[in-house]
Amino acid sequence: MLTIALSTASVHAAEVNVFTARHYSSDVELYAKFTKQTGIKVNVISGDAKALEKRIVTEGTRSQADVFIDVDAGNLGAAQRKGIFQKVSSPLLIEKIPAYLRTDYWYGISKRARIIFYNPEKISETIAKQLNYEDLASANYKGKIVIRSSSSTYNKSWVASLIENNGIEQTSKWAKALVENMARAPEGNDRDQILAVAAGKADIAIANSYYLSLMLSGQKGPEQQAAAKKVKLVFPNQNNRGTHMNISGAGVTAYAPNKEHAIRFIEFLLSTEAQQHIVNTSFEYPIIDQVMPNTIMAAFGTSFKQDTTSVATYYNNQAQALAIMKKAGWR
Ligand SMILES: [Fe+2]
Repeated sequence: MLTIALSTASVHAAEVNVFTARHYSSDVELYAKFTKQTGIKVNVISGDAKALEKRIVTEGTRSQADVFIDVDAGNLGAAQRKGIFQKVSSPLLIEKIPAYLRTDYWYGISKRARIIFYNPEKISETIAKQLNYEDLASANYKGKIVIRSSSSTYNKSWVASLIENNGIEQTSKWAKALVENMARAPEGNDRDQILAVAAGKADIAIANSYYLSLMLSGQKGPEQQAAAKKVKLVFPNQNNRGTHMNISGAGVTAYAPNKEHAIRFIEFLLSTEAQQHIVNTSFEYPIIDQVMPNTIMAAFGTSFKQDTTSVATYYNNQAQALAIMKKAGWR
């Protein structure tokens, strides 16, 4: 009996265990495509990022996790510092993903832009198109800007990139002026900021690119769809370094029992088929050039200039970014 049990155990089922904090039911359809192509079964464990990380860390060498997926380079950097990932070697990932969108531990699988949404009745398109993030500190916008709280990882990564590009001193001054320009104390999520502009409560909102498309698609109901139509968006910093970009990313976990399958799985996420699926269902931007953004997103332009600041710097500067925002009175 023992012999049989051992020989059964030694025949590993072809599978990969994916721990994901991305909440897209459509991702499951994507993983089914991987199984169809490779015969490798995908076991999905989805949940809150912090809970998944805790489970992986606590279970240590016994962890069954092979791949960890999360949004925001700041979050991925934090997971890396907790020992969630291992370094892997994949010439294919290095070839497909530009260096600024990956590290040795985790890899960008999609991009999102943090951009300016505005009320076209209050701000002309000509002026909007010239906007830089730095201009949000201008006295012209006193009481006109809405943005979520400083604890948001999207804001921490965004301000981290400003520190990387403009330095601590300049970013501190900028944050102070931006807080003075806020129409209200920060509240709600990114979509709430867009809704505030649509409702005339502010002229400018800062939010991630995919939220407007999500609202326009009707997935968030007819009210949000109607509100989204009242708002325009602009890609900032087109005359200099480009628009701030962040990622969703994936990495192979430190004690992955199915390491080779894990690498193959992440490589699959960078395939044309997978990238097309991701951008069509999440309204994010593709990592590879061969794929076009979803049509709703593409209508706003596909050739905007993107900031190529390394996303790895976001985690490095996040603590400083939060300190700067807090000191400026950014709730
Ligand atoms: Fe989001």
